[in-house]
Amino acid sequence: MRNNELRAPAAIDTDIIPSDGEHVFDDEARYQEVMLRYHCAILEMRTKLEVLSRDLEARYRRNPIEFIETRLKKPSSIARKLQRFGLEVTVDNMISRLSDIAGLRVLCAYIDDIYEIARMLARQQDVNVITVKDYIKSPKSNGYRSYHMIVEIPVYFSDQVLPVRCEIQIRTIAMDFWATLDHDMQYKKQVEDAEEIMRELKECADIIHNTDEKMMRLRERIHRIE
Ligand code: GTP
Ligand code: MG
Repeated sequence: MRNNELRAPAAIDTDIIPSDGEHVFDDEARYQEVMLRYHCAILEMRTKLEVLSRDLEARYRRNPIEFIETRLKKPSSIARKLQRFGLEVTVDNMISRLSDIAGLRVLCAYIDDIYEIARMLARQQDVNVITVKDYIKSPKSNGYRSYHMIVEIPVYFSDQVLPVRCEIQIRTIAMDFWATLDHDMQYKKQVEDAEEIMRELKECADIIHNTDEKMMRLRERIHRIE
């Protein structure tokens, strides 16, 4: 049969492993095997977060985690990022050089919940914190705020245990609202009044942060009355 190379290998489960129609890796079977590791790391990490959430909910009658979103990086995005680093698009480079193949986003109502979740994760014995970027204490110049952790966790497979990295972004719902619009702006090539829009976005980021802080103080006052 001709055009064999155009057919997706039978094992690809597009519900689990994203495919955007491009076969960017030579060794497609190995690519899938490795992507499955990242998928499983997300499952493990999501469970850790859900356990924390349930426990904190039971203790304080308030859920610090409102929502968890997860994603696996698409092959075309993996290729683009490796090329941006001047690296060959190989599965080995993907494993050794990229830390955001597996991504989790944790949305909290309040800023102090973010730090509590981060602290609780970091002190778990099998969570190896590789890097932390606190864009809440040090926002980016465009106004972006979020708490980023790169962590490595062991994932237990049938015949081996492998350390797998994931990127966790923890932010408030309000910060996420802002980041979504900012993200749209970054991906638009030609925007009229781009400078003015970015200035106003920055203004919104600061207003949102003030509101986040105010809401946290109000919550404390309301709960003190209880
Ligand atoms: P990337 O190469 O973009 O992954 O950035 P990085 O390796 O320098 O890591 P960083 O922790 O700064 O950013 C990781 C991720 O956070 C990005 O891929 C975005 O999803 C998100 N992010 C970082 N900066 C911004 C920003 O200014 N606006 C928005 N909307 N998202 C951002
Ligand atoms: Mg990224």
